Amino acid sequence: MEKQKILVVSYSQSGQLTEIVSNIIKPFIAQPDKFALYSHVIVPEPAFPFPWTSETFYDAFPESVSETPVKLNEFPTELKQKYDLILLAYQVWYLSPSIPITSFLMSDDFLRCAENTPVFSINGCRNMWYKAHDRISYFIEKAKGTHIGHLVLFDKAQNLISVVTIIYWMLNGKKDNYLGIFPKPGVSDQDIQQAEIFGKILVEHFPDQLNEVQIKIVEQGGVRVIPHLMSMEKKAKRLFQIWAKFVRKKGEAGNPKRQFRLKLFKYYLLFMIYFVSTIAMLLFYLFYPVNYKKIRANIKHYQGI
Ligand SMILES: Cc1cc2nc3c(=O)[nH]c(=O)nc-3n(C[C@H](O)[C@H](O)[C@H](O)COP(=O)(O)O)c2cc1C
Repeated sequence: MEKQKILVVSYSQSGQLTEIVSNIIKPFIAQPDKFALYSHVIVPEPAFPFPWTSETFYDAFPESVSETPVKLNEFPTELKQKYDLILLAYQVWYLSPSIPITSFLMSDDFLRCAENTPVFSINGCRNMWYKAHDRISYFIEKAKGTHIGHLVLFDKAQNLISVVTIIYWMLNGKKDNYLGIFPKPGVSDQDIQQAEIFGKILVEHFPDQLNEVQIKIVEQGGVRVIPHLMSMEKKAKRLFQIWAKFVRKKGEAGNPKRQFRLKLFKYYLLFMIYFVSTIAMLLFYLFYPVNYKKIRANIKHYQGI
């Protein structure tokens, strides 16, 4: 029997997403007679720094939101073929897919590969992933692929705490307990280890029952929706787009003329997260009963079931 071809596309700065992916693909690797795995690791040229400086971290904001592509390493000729399944592993930058991922999704190579092909997306982020997920679906649809399901692993710490710990992690490069008192940033070790169960679901339903994958992923806790964050993102994304335009008027990525506007954005962002989002959350739950139907529909949309 001919082997099923699986393409794994990923990008990771800290290695967190790489670790998640390596656990997910274990059940595929365990059946070498059935599956042939191909890997493409996206490398932007030049690379985004890790750890980031405060300047570079905020400088990535406008182009993340405006989905401005950057140059990537070449998609190797030997990978230019049709696959039975694509596993697309991405992270969120500023409520959008990260710039390297967006750049790949916009490439002709992705358009060719994904056409008439099932794509399963894997996201390793902080906890605000909803609008980025919509964009991933959009790009897959544009390539005439089928987004058969998605897994979202995120930081389960309280929202205001994970903001502190992720900034500490991104600016220091250390995924450890900030000041010895904060929880470890990012996706928990336990969630990373257990990611293998989601790979098992894919393998067990491949190739004829792929339409049942997403419900199983959700049953196993693979897409937990936090309603007030989901609701907040819609407004936040719109405001991000306005800010991104405002900053980009001062030049392209790396232009020092943007720094003043980016600093303004940084303080605006912290104010929004710590002050406005707290009030918005209270209002959200106050009006929850009134908006119940709409919220349920949105939750289902993001669970993909
Ligand atoms: C510039 C930047 C912006 C980010 N913005 C978000 C965000 O909007 N929502 C979110 O859930 N995570 C966000 N994150 C966290 C990433 O999604 C991701 O979890 C983290 O960078 C680790 O991914 P890695 O595997 O590439 O190291 C951001 C990270 C960076 C570097």
